[in-house]
Amino acid sequence: MKKGKRVLVVGSGGREHALAWALARAAEVERVYVAPGNGGTTWPPSPEAPDLQPRAPARSVPIRPDDIQTLIDFAREQAIDLTVVGPETPLAHGIVDAFQAAGLRIFGPTRAAARIETSKAFAKALMRACGVPTPDYAVFHRFEEARAYLRAHPGPVVVKASGLAGGKGAFVCDTTEEAEEALHRLMRERIFGEAGDTVVIEERLYGSELSMLALSDGRMVKPLLPARDHKRLMDGDRGPNTGGMGAYAPVPEVGPDAVERVVQQIMMPVLDALARQGTPFVGVLYAGLMWTASGPFVLEFNARFGDPEAQAILPLLETDGLEALEACLEGRLEDLSLRWRPGACVTVVLASPGYPGPVPEGLPISGLEDAAAQEGVLVFHAGTRREGAQLVTAGGRVLAVSAIGPDLPGAAARAYAAVERIHFEGMSFRRDIGRVPVRSL
Ligand code: AMP
Ligand code: GLY
Repeated sequence: MKKGKRVLVVGSGGREHALAWALARAAEVERVYVAPGNGGTTWPPSPEAPDLQPRAPARSVPIRPDDIQTLIDFAREQAIDLTVVGPETPLAHGIVDAFQAAGLRIFGPTRAAARIETSKAFAKALMRACGVPTPDYAVFHRFEEARAYLRAHPGPVVVKASGLAGGKGAFVCDTTEEAEEALHRLMRERIFGEAGDTVVIEERLYGSELSMLALSDGRMVKPLLPARDHKRLMDGDRGPNTGGMGAYAPVPEVGPDAVERVVQQIMMPVLDALARQGTPFVGVLYAGLMWTASGPFVLEFNARFGDPEAQAILPLLETDGLEALEACLEGRLEDLSLRWRPGACVTVVLASPGYPGPVPEGLPISGLEDAAAQEGVLVFHAGTRREGAQLVTAGGRVLAVSAIGPDLPGAAARAYAAVERIHFEGMSFRRDIGRVPVRSL
């Protein structure tokens, strides 16, 4: 019998749990490792895997995502067939280049291609050069010049750190005073360190936000289901920006024509430009869009799966996850057909008290087995760890509770019924994920 494949997922969040789950269901996968993983990324094999259960076993391994050499050593020792990168930081550090140089198979873009995410200044220039719609902007390296620009251009703007800031580097401002304050925090207080030494000041757009993710083999893309993230902390999109408080997929108002428009007007021009520069993009290309009265505009690109979008999209994927990723690496995406379960998936993030600021750790979590036993429900762990038999909190976003249902309201009802069974002290979550009326684009 042919040996099964071993997969290593790099990262520790809900997205990585969802990736590990999807890969543990793939026909050829024998074993999944997650580095470093979390309190939920170790499970036994389940040969008879009933619906929604992973078949292959998974295990957390204590290697940090940016310890690239140790990851390479591990991949060699364990004869890993494929490594899949979850977060952006290892991509920015060149994990894909290093694995490739070591002759190891890895899913994700090279450091040069990942600049589409790791440098907003690079992404904006590329979009401008290839005519991809994105808000007007200016780039600054000096505080005084940026402040002078703000004063000369009164009105609503968004001030962004050019570098990586964990999804928290964009300040959406109503007034020039607010924008100056954001500038001060980025460039003077340097709250994100060197990530904020270059800032992008952007025209503020109004419309409906959308996450469009696509698999890319460097030459073409296959779009995943459209998803909607919820970045603000509180219901009704109020409060500070976070890493993401919930998501759903698909987005009912985004039909096949809208998806095709995003592919043709946004994804393909960027993909072609990166290929022409000699840095083809292989991996997941994620366009964070604002759909305005004059169509879709790119707010940001990411070079990876979204978190929590992955926890809402992957449960609906019917196509074998390993086959899909391998098709990208082998440049044969054209032959891949992506199939999806009917219905919708809603993901509610349960956060620690104080998130997105500093949070306590070690709070005991209860009710998970009960929640996970509900129909259509998958509980993905993010900031959790095991202390003996007890599961405790270990980060800002603690759990992502996903539920598949016949439609968006049905999926939301299941997700919130499961959330009600889970408890930890000070647990906070949004109550409006997937519960808003369908808008038009
Ligand atoms: P980013 O990190 O660039 O995706 O920005 C984070 C969040 O800020 C986005 O999800 C939007 O909600 C908001 N945002 C970013 N840029 C703009 C913009 N130009 N106009 C309005 N909202 C924006
Ligand atoms: N959900 C937003 C992100 O992953 O960047």
